[in-house]
Amino acid sequence: MNKVEQLMEQARSVRIHSYSPYSHFPVGCAILMKDGSVITGVNVENVSFGVTNCAERSAIFTAVSQGYHKGDIQAIAIAGQTTDFLPPCSVCRQVLVEFCGPETPVYLTRQDGQIKSLSLAELVPYAFESLDL
Ligand code: THU
Repeated sequence: MNKVEQLMEQARSVRIHSYSPYSHFPVGCAILMKDGSVITGVNVENVSFGVTNCAERSAIFTAVSQGYHKGDIQAIAIAGQTTDFLPPCSVCRQVLVEFCGPETPVYLTRQDGQIKSLSLAELVPYAFESLDL
C-alpha cells in the first residue's frame, strides 16, 4: 500500500465511529499533518439536521484543538461508501481554504477503491480567502 492508500485506509476505517443515524451515510476523513501525524474525523449528525458536522470539519477542528495551525496540513483523504467519488461539501471546502494552501492534495475515493487526487484550488476555484480585496 502506498502512502496515499494508507491515508485513505485510515479515512475508511474511522467511519466505524461515524454518528449518522439519520442519513446512514458514514463518512471518514484522515488528515496527514506536515509533522507526519494523522488526525481523523467522522460526521456527527443531530436530530436537528443542520447541526450536523461533516467528517472533514470534525478532523480539521480536532487538529486545531490539538494545537495545529493554518499551513500545517499536508494532505486530506475523505471516504464514504459511494459508487462515485465523494467530494467534500461546500461548507467544508471553505473550512479547507481557511487552513490549507491551494496546492494541498485532497484525495477522494469510491466503493471500488479508486482514488482521485485533486488540489484544493481545483476543488475551490476563485476561493474567498481574504478580507483584503
Ligand atoms: N458528509 C460528510 O461528512 N462529508 C462529506 O464530504 C459529505 C457529507 C456527511 C454529512 C451528513 O452527516 C451525511 O454525510 C449526509 O449528507
